[in-house]
Amino acid sequence: MNHLLTTQDLDRDHLTMLLDTADGMVSLLERDIAKAPTLRGKTVATMFFEPSTRTKLSFDKAAKALSADVMSFTASSSSLTKGESLKDTVLTVQALGVDLMVVRHGATGAPWRVAEWVDVPVVNAGDGAHQHPTQALLDSLTLRQHFGTLDGVKIGIVGDIRHSRVARSNVFAFATLGADVTLIAPPTLLPVANSEWPVHTTSELDDALTGLDAVYLLRVQSERGGASVFPSLGEYRARFGLTAERFKRLKPDAVVLHPGPMIRGVEIDAVVADDPRSLVLEQVTNGVAARMAVLYHLLGGEADV
Ligand code: NCD
Repeated sequence: MNHLLTTQDLDRDHLTMLLDTADGMVSLLERDIAKAPTLRGKTVATMFFEPSTRTKLSFDKAAKALSADVMSFTASSSSLTKGESLKDTVLTVQALGVDLMVVRHGATGAPWRVAEWVDVPVVNAGDGAHQHPTQALLDSLTLRQHFGTLDGVKIGIVGDIRHSRVARSNVFAFATLGADVTLIAPPTLLPVANSEWPVHTTSELDDALTGLDAVYLLRVQSERGGASVFPSLGEYRARFGLTAERFKRLKPDAVVLHPGPMIRGVEIDAVVADDPRSLVLEQVTNGVAARMAVLYHLLGGEADV
């Protein structure tokens, strides 16, 4: 593996290998001293051209837990504001001496362009509404921990799928690992062309709900136009929000996931977000382990973790 840009080209063996490594990283992170020397001497650059809380902190923590050095770049405080191009920016960072670049960018395909320009592995940390492969890994890890397998697990992905890079990454990873995936959204928030996706689709949340093992909620991506195709967020909640009332109708052992940031009172009610069957914080914790696994494999760490 040279880069991690999309989940679409990851087969079951490859995904399983990354998840198995991530399981080992979970154990490492539970030790008293949650740090291994595996990537000592390596430098990871985290380059965020779009806002982020958990993804950026998670990559920083993952790199440091494997003893790599981290260089952080945030677009708003960079020479991009003076007009420097993306290409000059990444070549400058490469010239400073880095071994891997983590790139988040608002434009679809930007990490692929960066991968053409630089000589180091590139990890896509989210490009536009396109892909977010490490999110799919951490979600698969969380579901595999909970259910033991994804084989046959019925997962409903609910909300603004059209503008979601998380959905685009997750459907392929979940389906490749054997899950049965249903996209649940108003027709205006379903992707324009999804006939190639390994999923079922419906706009009837209430009908679909009772058959699900896991409900994966998505934020309405207002910054990408998601809110404009719906009369109001209140109306969205009434039909597609996981309200306290709907939550009661889930199977007793069904779980709830959300990639964050959650908008409480829109796609998820506060009591649902805080329920023990919400795996949201487990997802965040697992994000560090999943990203450690990716860094480990891309940087060829050989030592025991
Ligand atoms: C998501 C993202 O940025 O794609 N968040 C994340 O990385 N955990 C989802 C979102 O912004 O709604």
